[in-house]
Amino acid sequence: MARQKNLSPETVNAQALHQIDVSTGGITPAIHPSSTFLRDENYQLINPLHSYGRDENPGYAVAEKVLTELEAGASALLFSSGMAAAMAVVQSLRPGDHIVAPQVMYWGLRNWLSKFCDTWGLSLDLFDSTDPDALAKTIRKGKTKLVWIETPCNPTWDVIDIAAAAETTHAAGAWLAVDSTVATPVLTQPIKHGADIVIHSATKYLNGHCDIIAGALITAREDELWERVCEVRTQAGAILGSFEAWLLQRGMRTLFLRVRRASDSALTLAQHFDGHANIVSVIYPGLPRHPGHEIAKRQMDGGFGGMLCLQIKGGAEAALDVAKRCEVFTRATSLGGVESLIEHRHTIEGEGSPVPRDWLRLSIGIESVDDLIADIEQALE
Ligand SMILES: Cc1ncc(COP(=O)(O)O)c(C=O)c1O
Repeated sequence: MARQKNLSPETVNAQALHQIDVSTGGITPAIHPSSTFLRDENYQLINPLHSYGRDENPGYAVAEKVLTELEAGASALLFSSGMAAAMAVVQSLRPGDHIVAPQVMYWGLRNWLSKFCDTWGLSLDLFDSTDPDALAKTIRKGKTKLVWIETPCNPTWDVIDIAAAAETTHAAGAWLAVDSTVATPVLTQPIKHGADIVIHSATKYLNGHCDIIAGALITAREDELWERVCEVRTQAGAILGSFEAWLLQRGMRTLFLRVRRASDSALTLAQHFDGHANIVSVIYPGLPRHPGHEIAKRQMDGGFGGMLCLQIKGGAEAALDVAKRCEVFTRATSLGGVESLIEHRHTIEGEGSPVPRDWLRLSIGIESVDDLIADIEQALE
């Protein structure tokens, strides 16, 4: 079907680019479980795009095309998890390459990089993302191949200036990868700020319903790095299942509504508890005293995201007590779903976690914000 040009991202996303299933006229895509595809009597593929299902699953097309458009990129790939997406980027490097990443970032990836870079012949240096000069000091011209940033980053919600990071990274001849899981394309489009590649744990906001594990990469251009990333997915096989791909494209259709609602509610909740007698501090980039607020105002469009932390008066025990007494918030790890989650991040990350023990991490969902506030209020009493 012909498509009007210059549609807003909300329209593009809600209609999933108006991709009609041409074989049936279905206005939602079919699920494609087939692992292999027919060849004709001359041994030519019936459809040259599909030979073997490891990574030529027709069910990826909708989500990949929509993500490419939403992130203003050149191409996108789905993966079996956010970690698999990140791994595809790391595995596309060559022995001897140097990676720079922030000290505060998704702990699972930081742990993996710290433990396994050696095994792959890679080296790693972590930088303090609250110091604007730290990246330039950590990067090694000619040696650093990949700069990895996450913004807002887990769980301090520090905001990194993507455009500044891109300038420093490119001056050193490296690629900039941005984990934009928390911001989503609704609030930030890293490629427009100079990123080379965008990563999502699609498990989170993109899908939005805590019912799949998935990941995605979006590239600014189909360059050498992207070619290698594509090969890693094809050969290494960290692919998304057919049903998960279908759920993802379905969940994504409400992305704008969910993210805007979560963002608005997170701001309301953060403002409500800022200065509360039983709270030491509310950590949220939407609050003017958050160190990343000014960058967030420039870089995030239409909200500051649905993630925040509360530092509870009385230490770890008091924080765990608050989590215990919550009745509307669900005690579980993860983020970005329609239901609000509360977690004691230090417990989740375990010994050695840099997250203070008196912090509780909240993922705000789409419930009534009054119910969410009342729940924390009664838990704090
Ligand atoms: C910011 C961020 N990036 C990446 C990941 C990894 O994603 P997945 O759990 O889908 O592998 C997570 C998971 O919590 C995350 O929060």
